[in-house]
Amino acid sequence: MPGRPYLTIDLATVRSNVAELRGALPAAEIRYAVKANPAEPVLRLLASLGCAFDVASVGEVDLCVAAGIDGALMTFGNPLKKPAEIAYAFVRGVRRFTFDTAAGLAAIAENAPGSRVECRIAPTFPSSVTPFGHKFGCLPADAVGLLTDASRLGLRADGVAFHVGSQQLDPNAWEIGIRCARDIFDAVPGLATLNVGGGIPVAYDTRVPGVGVVGDAIADALGQYFPALPHVVIEPGRAVVGSAGTLSCEVVSVRTGTDGRRWVYLDIGRYGGLAETENEYIRYRLRTGRDGDPVDDAVVAGPTCDGDDVLYRQYPLPLTLRPGDPVEIDSAGAYTTSYSSSFNGFACLTTEFVEVTDAVTTG
Ligand SMILES: Cc1ncc(COP(=O)(O)O)c(C=O)c1O
Repeated sequence: MPGRPYLTIDLATVRSNVAELRGALPAAEIRYAVKANPAEPVLRLLASLGCAFDVASVGEVDLCVAAGIDGALMTFGNPLKKPAEIAYAFVRGVRRFTFDTAAGLAAIAENAPGSRVECRIAPTFPSSVTPFGHKFGCLPADAVGLLTDASRLGLRADGVAFHVGSQQLDPNAWEIGIRCARDIFDAVPGLATLNVGGGIPVAYDTRVPGVGVVGDAIADALGQYFPALPHVVIEPGRAVVGSAGTLSCEVVSVRTGTDGRRWVYLDIGRYGGLAETENEYIRYRLRTGRDGDPVDDAVVAGPTCDGDDVLYRQYPLPLTLRPGDPVEIDSAGAYTTSYSSSFNGFACLTTEFVEVTDAVTTG
């Protein structure tokens, strides 16, 4: 058992999450977003289940290669990449890239000749819990010209991609992207792939639309706009690994702050892996051995010397909590280890892998 804090990933839950996604959208290819949790046992399991992989960097290309994954199964989905990074991925067999600008397209043509490309569009989606804002994607109206240019540059203009924003709580969001894609498919002959991205939410401390509800919304929109189904890709990260992870940490200190409030300090915070608590975007469920005792709101903070390392300003916790008490954080399998840093010299988050109840690996 590693010292706290550590993450436990139940590979059986990863497997059942993939089965649930397949059940909801049987015709879709699952292209796992490696950034959510790039641990080798997770990648190997997903490869064995027939998933493809969305990589965001050459580091993620290397992690996939180390897990025995062929470059042909990878898509370099981050539109932001240096020419040398494109070339690096190309040498390792990556033949599918996403772009959202003419310059990005030209860099792919030069460094990954003949590759398939998907144009990422950014229509206005309803805001998600962790939104992308205007960071990625082109105007849908610009996609036709860019994809036409792709063919002129010797690339294979293969498809349209979008991402409705991570932890998207409005299932209707996908319809917007699919509707925009229809117009582009009509204008650019030969497009084959429609990548409807990630964004499927995880139930942290509240109920969210389930995989079935989102799957139905996507299937309905596809039925409406694509009577002849293209090659549909979903690119989930959170929905594959989020619910598979439980983070075990402990209380370091409980004190009354100079603001008169109760502060509970944990041995993990914003920099140790709970980066998604920024702006309190993701509100994890914290469980303690003292649940059931009287509760009151506390400020919950991480252990580092940074003033921003505060997770929640108001979180109900048992009044009996003491230093050394274990705390479990549910649904912490996505975007935790991949964000974890050694800031202040605290060790990066380690992971224990289990298959339902049997420990199989520690890394
Ligand atoms: C290009 C791309 N695809 C897929 C994902 C996965 O999104 P999610 O974890 O919300 O499913 C992300 C997340 O940032 C992304 O940037």
